[in-house]
Amino acid sequence: MTPPVSATGPEDLITRDNVVAGIQKLRFFPLALVGGNGSHLIEAGGRTLLDLSASWTASALGHGHPVVAKALARVAASPPGASILSATHSEAVGLAEELLAVVPGGGERRVHLGLSGSDVNDAALRAARHATGRPVVVAFEGGYHGGFGAGFMASGLHISAGSAPVRADVRLVPYPQPFRESDAMARSLSALENALAPGDVAVVAVEAIQCDGGLVVPPDGFLAAVAQRSRAAGALLLLDEVKVGLGRTGSMNSFDHEGVVPDLVTIGKGLGGGLPAAALIGPASVLDERRASALLTTAGNPYSCAVARAVLGHIVESDLPGRSRIAGDRLRSGLSEALADEPCVGEVRGRGLLVGVDLVTDRDTRGGDAAFARRVVYRLWQLGAIAYYVGGHVIELTPPLTISDTEIDEAIALVSRAVREAHLVDDETIAPWAGW
Ligand SMILES: Cc1ncc(COP(=O)(O)O)c(C=O)c1O
Repeated sequence: MTPPVSATGPEDLITRDNVVAGIQKLRFFPLALVGGNGSHLIEAGGRTLLDLSASWTASALGHGHPVVAKALARVAASPPGASILSATHSEAVGLAEELLAVVPGGGERRVHLGLSGSDVNDAALRAARHATGRPVVVAFEGGYHGGFGAGFMASGLHISAGSAPVRADVRLVPYPQPFRESDAMARSLSALENALAPGDVAVVAVEAIQCDGGLVVPPDGFLAAVAQRSRAAGALLLLDEVKVGLGRTGSMNSFDHEGVVPDLVTIGKGLGGGLPAAALIGPASVLDERRASALLTTAGNPYSCAVARAVLGHIVESDLPGRSRIAGDRLRSGLSEALADEPCVGEVRGRGLLVGVDLVTDRDTRGGDAAFARRVVYRLWQLGAIAYYVGGHVIELTPPLTISDTEIDEAIALVSRAVREAHLVDDETIAPWAGW
């Protein structure tokens, strides 16, 4: 018989995982978990780790939050079925109404419930093509919109990695990289104008901060300019809020600070508090047709919806966007100060509790140091905290929105120590952990 996992060390779980896990893996160090609480995760073997990723933002309220447990227990005691395809229930309708209250938009709107960022982006892009009768999606180089479907096909990261094909109905334009180019915004907007010029673009899909592409924060005014140009060309604007929405950047929606009101908004990850839950919000004119063209049997299931309502309610009632702003400032300024004299740190940037540490080979030339980033996250794990890198060389810090000041100070100390001690990790140790 298999022993209970908590009684075994991480090595045992990792060995068994190596036998069963395949293309789903994106591993940076040998992490095998058996539990979690708040901002901490518990490793097989009993070590407690500070989670500075919040499971790639999926655990927005941290691990094992009481509002999540309570909602789950309540609905599990008498679940109104498990699907909204042919029946509705109060958790699904309630969630849709509550999402409409926090995502701006005018006119008659609909909420399509999904299970993942990928499926709601797929639904959004397909609906946009159908509603406009236009074939082309414009998206950004370095963007990430999904692991399958139309979002996968429009993800710059998948296309540049060769995982998704180059297609005639997907046009990529550069995302502005202000840290690396002086005329970043002008170059990007001029490419966008060219991409829109033929008049065949259904939708422009954009992230307000490009996370997986390297935690790239565009210059102020970029989103508003993208919105203006998309509208002028008769294209819809899709804001992909899957990673950056629901308070992560210090406001409820990451686009609020530019006063942009998108046509379509997709939300996921943190919404489900660890359960699969996602949503697409948009005009009735786009999301009413074609009937039954985006069916997923368990999308809108009462368990996910009840937990999502509890998560959203807690974010609103506890003003977690406000907390994210204050906590994020503390994390960013603390790290900037602690790392000021490290020549390998090019920039500490971000907004709210979405913080990136850009590692460079040289502060003048600003070339990214991917080999160093691999060592830093590995050393960080050895020291007792979890974070991953994005864009090859940027350490991404997205702790739970509930992280305390004491935990933030601990994070600053651990991350700066990992940067200073990364040289202790040798090539042989990290060789099996390929990351991205
Ligand atoms: C911006 C963005 N959109 C969409 C997705 C896809 O979400 P999921 O992995 O839940 O399908 C991700 C996941 O990383 C994301 O970061």
